[in-house]
Amino acid sequence: MAKMEVKTSLLDNMIGVGDMVLLEPLNEDSFINNLKKRFDHNEVYTYIGSVVISINPYRSLPIYTPEKVEEYRNRNFYELSPHIFALSDEAYRSLRDQDKDQCILITGESGAGKTEASKLVMSYVAAVCGKGAEVNQVKEQLLQSNPVLEAFGNAKTVRNDNSSRFGKYMDIEFDFKGDPLGGVISNYLLEKSRVVKQPRGERNFHIFYQILSGASEDFLCKLKLERDFSRYNYLGLDSAKVNGVDDAANFRTVRNAMQIVGFMDHETQSVFEVVAAVLKLGNIEFKPESRVNGLDESKIKDKNELKEICELTGIDQSVLERAFSFRTVEAKQEKVSTTLNVAQAYYARDALAKNLYSRLFSWLVTRINESIKAQTKVRKKVMGVLDIYGFEIFEDNSFEQFIINYCNEKLQQIFIELTLKEEQEEYIREGIEWTHIEYFNNAIICDLIENNQTGILAMLDEECLRPGTVTDDTFLEKLNQVCATHQHFESRMSKCSRFLNDTSLPHSCFRIQHYAGKVMYQVEGFVDKNNDLLYRDLSQAMWKASHSLIKALFPEGNPAKINLKRPPTAGSQFKASVATLMKNLQTKNPNYIRCIKPNDKKAAHVFNDALVCHQIRYLGLLENVRVRRAGYAFRQAYEPCLERYKMLCKQTWPHWRGPARAGVKVLFNELKIPEEEFSFGRSKIFIRNPRTLFKLEDLRKQRLEDLATLIEKIYRGWKCRTRFLLMKKSQIVIASWYRRYAQQKKYQKIKSSAIIVQSYIRGWKARKLLRELKHQKRCNEAATIIAAYWHGTQARRELKRLKEEARRKHAVAVIWAYWLGLKVRREYRKFFRANAGRKIYEFTLQRLMQKYFLEMKNKMPSLSPIDKNWPARPYLFLDSTHKELKRIFHLWRCKKYRDQFTDQQKLIYEEKLEASELFKDKKALYPASVGQPFQGAYLEISKNPKYKKLKDAVDEKIIIAEVVNKINRANGKATSRIFLLTKNNVLLADQKSGNIKSEVPLGDVTKVSMSSQNDGFFAVHLKEGSGAAGKGDFLLSSDHLIEMATKLYRTTLSQTKQKLNIEISDEFLVQFRQDKVCVKFIQGSQKNGNIPTCKRKNNRLLEVAVP
Ligand SMILES: Nc1ncnc2c1ncn2[C@@H]1O[C@H](COP(=O)(O)OP(=O)(O)OP(=O)(O)O)[C@@H](O)[C@H]1O
Ligand SMILES: [Mg+2]
Repeated sequence: MAKMEVKTSLLDNMIGVGDMVLLEPLNEDSFINNLKKRFDHNEVYTYIGSVVISINPYRSLPIYTPEKVEEYRNRNFYELSPHIFALSDEAYRSLRDQDKDQCILITGESGAGKTEASKLVMSYVAAVCGKGAEVNQVKEQLLQSNPVLEAFGNAKTVRNDNSSRFGKYMDIEFDFKGDPLGGVISNYLLEKSRVVKQPRGERNFHIFYQILSGASEDFLCKLKLERDFSRYNYLGLDSAKVNGVDDAANFRTVRNAMQIVGFMDHETQSVFEVVAAVLKLGNIEFKPESRVNGLDESKIKDKNELKEICELTGIDQSVLERAFSFRTVEAKQEKVSTTLNVAQAYYARDALAKNLYSRLFSWLVTRINESIKAQTKVRKKVMGVLDIYGFEIFEDNSFEQFIINYCNEKLQQIFIELTLKEEQEEYIREGIEWTHIEYFNNAIICDLIENNQTGILAMLDEECLRPGTVTDDTFLEKLNQVCATHQHFESRMSKCSRFLNDTSLPHSCFRIQHYAGKVMYQVEGFVDKNNDLLYRDLSQAMWKASHSLIKALFPEGNPAKINLKRPPTAGSQFKASVATLMKNLQTKNPNYIRCIKPNDKKAAHVFNDALVCHQIRYLGLLENVRVRRAGYAFRQAYEPCLERYKMLCKQTWPHWRGPARAGVKVLFNELKIPEEEFSFGRSKIFIRNPRTLFKLEDLRKQRLEDLATLIEKIYRGWKCRTRFLLMKKSQIVIASWYRRYAQQKKYQKIKSSAIIVQSYIRGWKARKLLRELKHQKRCNEAATIIAAYWHGTQARRELKRLKEEARRKHAVAVIWAYWLGLKVRREYRKFFRANAGRKIYEFTLQRLMQKYFLEMKNKMPSLSPIDKNWPARPYLFLDSTHKELKRIFHLWRCKKYRDQFTDQQKLIYEEKLEASELFKDKKALYPASVGQPFQGAYLEISKNPKYKKLKDAVDEKIIIAEVVNKINRANGKATSRIFLLTKNNVLLADQKSGNIKSEVPLGDVTKVSMSSQNDGFFAVHLKEGSGAAGKGDFLLSSDHLIEMATKLYRTTLSQTKQKLNIEISDEFLVQFRQDKVCVKFIQGSQKNGNIPTCKRKNNRLLEVAVP
C-alpha cells in the first residue's frame, strides 16, 4: 500500500501554466495572458523554473494562513501550486539540510510588493523553524524590527502608500539545527531629502504623523508638540491622511514593537525627542538683515521655536543661534567666519534636519542590531533577505532616484549573472551540451554609472572635490563631454547630435536608458546631495547638546577630533556599500522573487497589460524563460519522472525494479518519443520541448482514466466476489447451526424417551426387589417375635420357679427362727425375774439420755442472741426434749445479754423496741431506721453561738434538736426549721436566726400522721381550739421521722399518760386554718433522685410524689 502514495505535482489542476518554462508558444502575449489568466483566478504566483513571479493582488488573499504554511512545509518545490512559501521552504530546507547559506532577492518597482514579500518569507521561516521560549523571543524580535524600521523609513509616495525609502538587507542567522539565533540588518541610503520636502501628493516619513495622531496629550506636551499637522512646515499637508491607514494605532504598534525589540524607556523617549526636534526645526524661519559692510545677514524671525528646540535637546540657545548665522571655515591653521544669508540659513537648517533624521535612522538600525545580535559564537548559517527600494521613474527624478535605480541595475546584473551561471552549471553538472542564448546584459549600464574613471558617480565626485566654482551645470557639462558616446546616455548638450532636437529632454537634464526603461534626471541638487554638507558649526553645536543621543549622533562635532579631510561623498559611500552587498550576495545561494505591479492605481482585480508588459520587458523575464529553456524546457530527476509516468509503459507499470534512469529510458523508448526531444543527464531527464511534456501529461491523463476504470472494474469484481463469498460463508454457517439445532432436538427426544423406558424398567425391577425384601424382612420379624415369645415364656417359667424357691426358703427361715426362739425362751425362762425386762429397758433409756446430754454439752452454740445455730437431734424419741432445750438456752442467753446493758443502752433499746412496735411492717421507711442509732440532738444548740438566744429561751432538757422541712401549706414548697422536742413542748424555730416560730405544749398534740411509704413526711395534728392550733396543723418532713415519731410518742406518754395516736395512711386530712386539706401520697417518677416532691394541686389536695 505504501507504493500507492499519491504524489501531487505543480502540473495538477493548473490554471494556465504554473511554470512559464512550459509556456507554449512562448512570446510576450502568451506570457502576459498566462499571468493575467492566473491573476484573474487569484493565482498571484508563477514560476520561471525556480524564480517566483509575484503579482501584487492589492487585497488580502486567504493564502497565507497557518494551514497553508503546513501545506507547503517540507514539500518539494514543484509539488504544489506556485507560492512564495514554496520558495521560502526550499531556501530554508536547503540552508538547514544542505548547509548552504541562502539569500532571497526581492526586486520590482515601487509598490510591487517587495516589502510584503520579505515579511511573508520571514513569517514563513519563523513559523516552520524551531520552537521554544528562547527561540520564540528571537523570532519575535526579528519580526518586530519591521514595524519600527517601517515607521521611520517608509512614507506614502504616489506609487505606494507604504513605500520603503531606504534599502534593507537582513541576515537571519540559524544554528546547525535550523533554529534562529539572531540577525543583522544593513540599511542603504535613506531618502533624507523627504524630511524637508515632499513631492506633491506624498508624505513625510510615517513616524511624524504617527506621533502627532497617536501620542497622548501628556506625551505631546513633553515633546513640546501640537497635534495639528498644519503647524509644521515640514509636513506636506495635501495627503496627510492616508486611506486605510490608522496612524494613531500604528504609533501604538511601533511603541510596542520597540519595547519587544528591547528599547529601554529612556531610549524610546530620546528617539521621540529627536523626531520632535527635527519637526520643530522646520518651523524656524529667517529674515534678511543688511550689515554695514554690505554683506547679507539673516536673523531668526521668531525665537520661540528655537528656544523650545534648545530645551528639548539641551543645547545652549545662543550656540545654536550662532550656528544658524555663521559659517566657520577652517583651512590649515586659519579659521574664517562668514555670515550666512537667508538662503544659506535655510540650507543650513534643512541640512541639519536631514542629517539629524538620517543619523537617527542609522542609530535605530544599530540599536536594533544590538538587540537581535546572535548571542553565541558558534558557526552560523545565514539567510539574507534583500528588500531594496524598487526601480523608480518619477516626473522629477533627482539624485535619490539615480542612486536607487543604480542599485536596481546592480541587482539585475547579479540576477543575470547568477541565473545564467546556475543554468550553465547545471548543464555542466548533468553533462549536457550548452547552447548560447541571447539576452540583454545590463553590465554596460552599470559601467556607465560606476566606472571608476568615466562613470557618472566618479565624475560627480570629481566635480564636488574640484576647487573653483562648482555647480550642477558644470557637472552636466562634464557628463556631456565624457559620456556623450555611451549608448545608454542621452543629453541635449552632449556632443552626440542625436538628441539636439529632442524637445522632451530639457537642457538641465540627462537621461539614462536603464534596463527598466529610460529615466530623465534633473541635474539640479546632484552636487549638493552628493556632498551632503553639514556646516561644522552645526555639528559642533549638536555635539554640545546635553541630550546624550544627539551628542552621540554627531561625533565629528567634538573639537578634539576635528578632521579636516572631507568625508566621503554620498555617491561613493553608496557605491561602496552596494559593492559589499553584491559580494555578499554572490557567496550565497540566490532565490529570486520578482514582484510585478498589476496597475498604477493600487487597485485590486485590475490588470494593466501595458504596465505588466513593460515590467516583464525590463525585468527580462522572457529572456529568463528562454535561458531556462535554452536547451531544454523541462528537467526533472529520474525518480519523480518515473513515478509520474510509469503507468504509460507495461515494463515500468506497476513497479520498475531497476535504476530509475533505465526505467525512464525504457519508458521513453516505449512511447516512441523522438530522440532529439530529450537528453539524459546524470541525475535528471531534460525535455527539450514543452509540447513533449504536455504530450506526456495528456497520455498520463488518458492512462489514469483507463487505470481508474480498471481499478473500478477490479474493485467492483472484488466487491461482488467478497459479497458472494461472504454470503456463501454465511449460508454454511446458518445451515450448520440449523442442523446442529435439529439434531440436538432429535437427540433430546430420543434421550427423554430412553429415560422414560429406562425408568419404567427400573421401577418394575425395584418394585420386584422391594417385594422380595419386604417378604424377607417379615419372615425375619416373625422369627424374632416367635423367638422372643419363646424366650419370654421360658424366662417367666424360670422366674416363677425361682420365686417359689425363695418363698419356700424364707418360710423355712421364719419357721426356723420361731422354732429357735421358742426353744431359747423355753430354755432361759427359768433364769429371769418377772420385772427384769422393765429394768433393762429403763437402764438402756437412762444410758441414752446420759450420752445425749454429755454430747450436747460439747456442741453448745455461741452466746450471741442472734446465733441461729443448734445441733441436730440424735434420736427421734428426744425430739420435743431437744426443742425445749433450744428455747430454754435462747432465753437464758438473752437474759445474759440484757444483763450487760447500761441504763443509757436500755433506754435506747426501749426506744428501738417502741419504734419496732409502732412501725414494723407498717411504714416502708422503718427497716432503714433499725440500724441508725437514735441520737436525738442532731443540732448541738448549746455549742453553736448562733442559737444562744434559742438555748436561753428553752430551759428544759432538749430531747430532739433537728432541722426539718416545714411544708408551706399554700404551695407545697419546703422551708427549713429547727424542730425541738422538750419534756413538755414541741418548738419550731427559724433555722438562721434561731427565733422561735411556734411552741406547742405536748398536751395539745393529738395525732401524728404519715404515709406507709418510704418518705419522711409527717403531720402534727393539734387539738382544736388550743393556742397553737390557730395556724393549723404542721406538715413537716424529716430524715429521722421514725426516731422523732417514737420520741414524741414516748415523751407524750410519759408526760400526759396518754398514748399519742400515730396514723399510718397514704391519704390523711390536715387542718390548715379553716380548711381541711387532703395530703395524698402517690407513686412519683425518679426524676429528682429519691427526694419526694410536694405539690399543691388545688385547695383541697396536696400531692406528695414518692419515688
Ligand atoms: N501579497 C500581497 N497581498 C496583499 N497585498 C499586498 C501584497 N503585496 C503587496 N501588497 C499591497 O501593496 C502595497 C505595496 O507593497 P510593498 O510596500 O511591499 O511594495 P514595495 O515593493 O516594497 O514598494 P517600495 O519599493 O515602494 O517599498 C502594500 O502596502 C500592500 O497593500
Ligand atoms: Mg518596500
